[in-house]
Amino acid sequence: MKTSTEIRNSYLQFFNKKGLPTIPSSSLVPHSDPTLLFTSAGMVQFKANFLGIDNSLKNAVSCQKCVRTTDIDSVGFTERHLTFFEMLGNFSFGDYFKNEAIAWAWEYLTQVLGLPADKLYVSIYKGGIAPRDEEAYQAWLKYVPKERIFELGEADNFWTMGPTGPCGPCSEIYYDFGDKGCKNPHCDITCDCGRFVEIWNIVFESYNRQQDGSLKPLPHNNIDTGMGLERLCMAMQGAKNVFGTDLFTPLIEQAKKDLHISGSTKEEDSALRIIADHARSSSFLIAEGILPSNEGRGYILRRLIRRAARYAKLMGNDKPYLYTLVPVVQKIFAGLYPEIDKNAAHIQDVLKQEETTFLKTLVTGEEKLAEILATGTKTISGADAFHLHETYGFPLELTREIAAARGVSVDEKGYEQAKETAQEKSRSYADEFTKGKVIVMQKLEQACPATKFVGYDTLTAQGKVLALLNSQFEQADQVTDGYAVFDTTPFYAESGGQVADTGVLVSNGEEIAQITDVQKPLGKVFLHKFTGTLKKGDVVTLTVDAPRRARLRANHSAIHLVNAALRQVFGTTVHQSGSFVSPERFRFDYTLSKTPKTEELNKVWAIANKAAADALPVTCQTRPLADAEKLGAVTLLGEKYADPARFVLMGGDFEHADQKYSLELCGGTHVKNTSEVITVLVLKEGSVSAGVRRIEGIAGPAALDYLKEVNRQAEKLAARLVVPAKDVFARVNAIMDELKDVKKQYEDFRQKALAAGGVNEMTFALKNGTTVVLRYADDAQPKELRNIADTIAQKHKQALVIVSCDKDGKRAFVVKTAGKLPNTDAVTVAKQLAEQLNGRAGGRADFAQGGGEAKEPMEKLLAILQ
Ligand code: ALA
Repeated sequence: MKTSTEIRNSYLQFFNKKGLPTIPSSSLVPHSDPTLLFTSAGMVQFKANFLGIDNSLKNAVSCQKCVRTTDIDSVGFTERHLTFFEMLGNFSFGDYFKNEAIAWAWEYLTQVLGLPADKLYVSIYKGGIAPRDEEAYQAWLKYVPKERIFELGEADNFWTMGPTGPCGPCSEIYYDFGDKGCKNPHCDITCDCGRFVEIWNIVFESYNRQQDGSLKPLPHNNIDTGMGLERLCMAMQGAKNVFGTDLFTPLIEQAKKDLHISGSTKEEDSALRIIADHARSSSFLIAEGILPSNEGRGYILRRLIRRAARYAKLMGNDKPYLYTLVPVVQKIFAGLYPEIDKNAAHIQDVLKQEETTFLKTLVTGEEKLAEILATGTKTISGADAFHLHETYGFPLELTREIAAARGVSVDEKGYEQAKETAQEKSRSYADEFTKGKVIVMQKLEQACPATKFVGYDTLTAQGKVLALLNSQFEQADQVTDGYAVFDTTPFYAESGGQVADTGVLVSNGEEIAQITDVQKPLGKVFLHKFTGTLKKGDVVTLTVDAPRRARLRANHSAIHLVNAALRQVFGTTVHQSGSFVSPERFRFDYTLSKTPKTEELNKVWAIANKAAADALPVTCQTRPLADAEKLGAVTLLGEKYADPARFVLMGGDFEHADQKYSLELCGGTHVKNTSEVITVLVLKEGSVSAGVRRIEGIAGPAALDYLKEVNRQAEKLAARLVVPAKDVFARVNAIMDELKDVKKQYEDFRQKALAAGGVNEMTFALKNGTTVVLRYADDAQPKELRNIADTIAQKHKQALVIVSCDKDGKRAFVVKTAGKLPNTDAVTVAKQLAEQLNGRAGGRADFAQGGGEAKEPMEKLLAILQ
């Protein structure tokens, strides 16, 4: 039996022999296309090649890691849905076309892999929005009898990657798995019983679909193919489904053992599939630096982990489990995806954290559901059911089951609506700047040379305007207030968490424009946002705001000092999970699977500040990426580094890198010596989410400003308190204690005064002989009225006690009986009073309360009652 590793290799080698270079899998986070949530096909990294924007490659072959998450809820319940899969693909960018693509596919399947030709079926596009694919039909006829060639429409045989972009008719190759499925003698590839499984899709990408749905021819004909490795292995390994291939069995066998289940029931089987699939996808996502969160990619990751954890729990497992499978994932992909091995400990940490949190929320979820049911509702709303699902991991089925046991139903339509809204949320991930502008940027990237960034060494440089975009993002030769591309720039474009430089453009000694932001959306070309007027071809002097840059430098270098200190104290599994550097402050997020002790954090600050005080030299060098490992440089998970890359070394020199304080791959701007950081002040440290902590601080000139301001405040306080500045705290402490005492004394006094009554209390008799004691207690809080009434009632054998409080035009009152009153009850009087005040009252015969407008005095109202 051929292993998946052998099959993967044989595919790449086959196409290498046909002259196609192997291009490594791109990351799951599509760096070249920020509009996509995840890389979902082999062609994603080649979009610019298809569009004819990038002409550096003629053809290629790859094995691409992919994540597709639109059907998460189906995974586990079908034979072939997966969230993570590997796509084998061969591509042509205006090079070979239909005949070769079809001939090679046939050769590979039947001759290299030896799949029986009579088990292979194919489909071609029957025509519709584009003409019928006669060429593909003729090409297939050479290998496949016409009874096994099917002609299908758009849904099956016209491939599009989205509403717009490269697309075209396609041919699919199906494998006949024989005795499975519906057993209908007329079953064919159009039946979805599972007997015929599509293994390879060959797309003839000839069109670029426009916003209005029309098809424009691409500059050249392309080939884009995609063959799911898992499905191919299923055919090659005689497995019943993808989960029976060697890409899954190690996980499934391990889970069977751990969970003490055999997988023989439908429930067990689904749980095992879900655990195996989600263990793979979540490991790969975490290896790329994604962390569970409530939005975008992190949200998908969270759903995957929680879904797997829930199914493990359904199988009777109460502890975090998924993380224990990471070594099995490592074994399946041994030697193929180094990011998994390199980050195994981190992947385990993140999974365990999320599972722990989830298991806790599941208990809370059960309580929440009990609370909803306790309200006596007959239907659980769709929003509630979905909230239980998303927040507490309660599947609809579970909510339905528990509710049904109590005779309560679930609004499933409402649930679907809430779910759709949530999916909308994760779809609309792309940020506004990049949405719809990718194509413009891709064109600029192609048309302009890479912007030469000289801002590491100088803050002022001559630059020529190469392209201009107006505020609508359209190219023009002269623009007022828009975006400019220069050949050379000293301006740092926002990246790596560091905000962009700002500054001015000078021409003939005169300031002609201001730069307010700089972005490099696709990495190569810098887009300078400017106010002012520029013409294409203008040569201007670009000058960065120097004091601002100095502040940025200090704050960024401070992050490196802190990062290294964190690793000294907590070990090297600490990973940066986000950062932000502005002239005013810095923010640094890092992973840590425990709550740090104050002493540990104090140690971190002390180490970072000592490094600043030690005045260590800072050296930046561009070196081969391979040096990162050799020299022990800190790299970011999932970050795509250029090769060569920029190394930032603090302490020591590159010849003696073992003496370093810190070494990171980083494109940011830094101080020349750590003494310029002056001091690292941490203003806040806390948890952002499970396993992720955040430090907010300031350094350098910003820290000095801050200290100056604090000092100024201290001096002012000291003057006001008439003590030396150093004694301010002790003095304030003493004042606060005093204040506490005074407050307490005042409260005691007030309570006594309220109970004493005096001028605010009057007694009179109603006509029916009932004695009324009326007290105005406007100083009291409404909630205190009852206590006051109780105190007064104790002093009277037989009376109707009324306590009333007016505030802001409103009146609250209570009515209480002291002793037995034969002719009067409290609630009747309260209601009558409330009616006079346009308000409401309620209570019992012995006690009632009410309220309304503060109109007539109470004694007058009582007189009317008589
Ligand atoms: N891009 C094509 C697909 O994903 C090959 O099916």
